[in-house]
Amino acid sequence: MATTRDEHSYAQPDKVRISDLALDLAVDFDRKQLSGTATYTLEWLDPQATQLVLDTRDLTITKVEGANREGQWTPLRYALAARDPILGSKLTIQVPERDTSVRVAYTTSPEASGLQWLEPAMTQGKQQPFMFSQSEAIHARSWVPLQDTPGVRFTYKAHVTAPANAMVLMSADNDPAAARDGDYSFTMPQPIPSYLLAIAAGDLVFEPISRRSGVWAEPAMVHKAASEFADTEKMIDVAEKLYGPYRWGRYDLLVLPPSFPFGGMENPRLTFATPTVIVGDKSLVSLVAHELAHSWSGNLVTNASWKNIWLNEGFTTYVQARITEALYGNELAEMERQIDQEELAREIKSGEIAPADQVLALPALAGRDPDEVLSDIAYTKGAWFLQFLEQRFGRDTFDPFLRGWFDSHAFKSATSDEFVDYLQANLLAKHPDMVTPAELDAWLHQPGIPAFAHRAQSRNFGIVDAARIAWSAEGKLPPASITTPWSTQEWTHFLDGLPETLPVERMGALDAAYHFSGTPNGELAQRWYPLAVRSGYHAGDDAMAAFLQVVGRRKLIMPTYEALVKTPEGLQFARDVFEKARPGYHPITTASVAALLAKAAPVASAASAADAPPAVSSTVPAPAAPATGGAPAP
Ligand code: BES
Ligand code: ZN
Repeated sequence: MATTRDEHSYAQPDKVRISDLALDLAVDFDRKQLSGTATYTLEWLDPQATQLVLDTRDLTITKVEGANREGQWTPLRYALAARDPILGSKLTIQVPERDTSVRVAYTTSPEASGLQWLEPAMTQGKQQPFMFSQSEAIHARSWVPLQDTPGVRFTYKAHVTAPANAMVLMSADNDPAAARDGDYSFTMPQPIPSYLLAIAAGDLVFEPISRRSGVWAEPAMVHKAASEFADTEKMIDVAEKLYGPYRWGRYDLLVLPPSFPFGGMENPRLTFATPTVIVGDKSLVSLVAHELAHSWSGNLVTNASWKNIWLNEGFTTYVQARITEALYGNELAEMERQIDQEELAREIKSGEIAPADQVLALPALAGRDPDEVLSDIAYTKGAWFLQFLEQRFGRDTFDPFLRGWFDSHAFKSATSDEFVDYLQANLLAKHPDMVTPAELDAWLHQPGIPAFAHRAQSRNFGIVDAARIAWSAEGKLPPASITTPWSTQEWTHFLDGLPETLPVERMGALDAAYHFSGTPNGELAQRWYPLAVRSGYHAGDDAMAAFLQVVGRRKLIMPTYEALVKTPEGLQFARDVFEKARPGYHPITTASVAALLAKAAPVASAASAADAPPAVSSTVPAPAAPATGGAPAP
């Protein structure tokens, strides 16, 4: 059990720990707030301790009480400290009698960083409002006062009331047959860390995939989503064969509106997913493999604090690829690895990731927001390290080793050092001379990717590269006979290999042939629009503006904003589009875009005012049809 300090929490879990949480909450769409009580069952560890310290952010605390042995509630004294911009406000509760039950009554802020409240217009059905949470990394504290550290696990129960037409779901035992009556109860019997606490409310219906899995979504999306994710049960089977039983009961997916700021979130029993992966041909379902894989790496064995996040995301990316390979073949897994590895190489080369942040074993992150430190290092370098170990030891040895790691640390948190000790004792010591200390050091403590790492090399991408080179050299677009079988991954690789900028006529030729502008495929859109901006190609500007206004998934839209802010005209376009899009963005996305725009040079400076369009007239059209769903394109 990890006892290292978590620099992103005020809690003192060595003194007292929450072992169970009981929530009683009301969802108020008009006020955009949750209000009610959180009741904790406490385990007092330090015999001297008489204080319970909790994490909060932007919460209004109305009452704090403790229950004595007879179950009588009496008020407790408490103090809410000034708000730290990263950590929020420390809530210190005096518990002189060391009560085993403490209850806090509170209300969330409409601006809670971990919640998004959507007007009906921002949903697919346009009739009902919607609300969802995103707690990882340190946003749970904005909707529940908690020991908000992944080093503390608790079971939970919840009673939630909402308008009768709203279905409420949580990261718990959602009953597909539950009556939709505005009164819902949940139980989560397995202990989870706070970042896996999740809630959503809206016009949601269910369609089963198998006995233990299915999809929740708005009515107009649910069937399409269930077809796209039809292989979910097969994925669970593959993962169980490799790493032991799925320990969480049901595995359902919730498809959110397109403003969801991430691709997916591994909320236990109920993965939250962006609709931008539903492209009609199952080509982006590795996202499901990824979030499902977290049921072992992350949800079962949890990073003890955010500097250890590669134990969650790197392990999960490795397991994801194993599931993809087993179901769809090694070529798809290899294409995805190559795309990721080449992207990481670009980020390292461009200086986007500072050398100090390029190590797996990160130093303490005090003073830094964990959302900002997270990079492809944790994901891609983390997975690459495990692939390296797999190749050195062979699957016959490595697969049981990894399963042993999950089994021996189930329902616990772990640090990077603990993994390295486990690796030494259970793999390296038993098979000496297979990996040198210098190699281990290169993966864990040195920046960049070790020179001896094996680079992924997809066969299909050889064809894509040849087609791209022929086009660059002779201007001959690859014929349909070549491109028709291309999947999202091949098109992604085609775009990734194009030069920084292209002549406008060449952009036009590509667009006419393959219809990149307006593509419903977010993986292609996030590569095409920045290229269009850098190249000064404007024919797709309306489609680009619509994309930025409908989609809130940070990874998909940030590259376009980053390209836009590099010129005065682009910056003005970005500001106009952001102004329109902002009411529909999640707080996490809003924060990223606002920070980028604030850093960019002011548009109205004397030098650039002449070329920039007047600030009052908008360069941005109203959003068109949602840039999600539809046939795969190109
Ligand atoms: N757990 C992450 C999302 C996350 C990480 C949120 C850190 C906040 C802080 C999730 O499992 C994830 O990795 N999502 C990816 C999916 C992709 C790698 C398939 C995403 O959102 O892009
Ligand atoms: Zn993940």
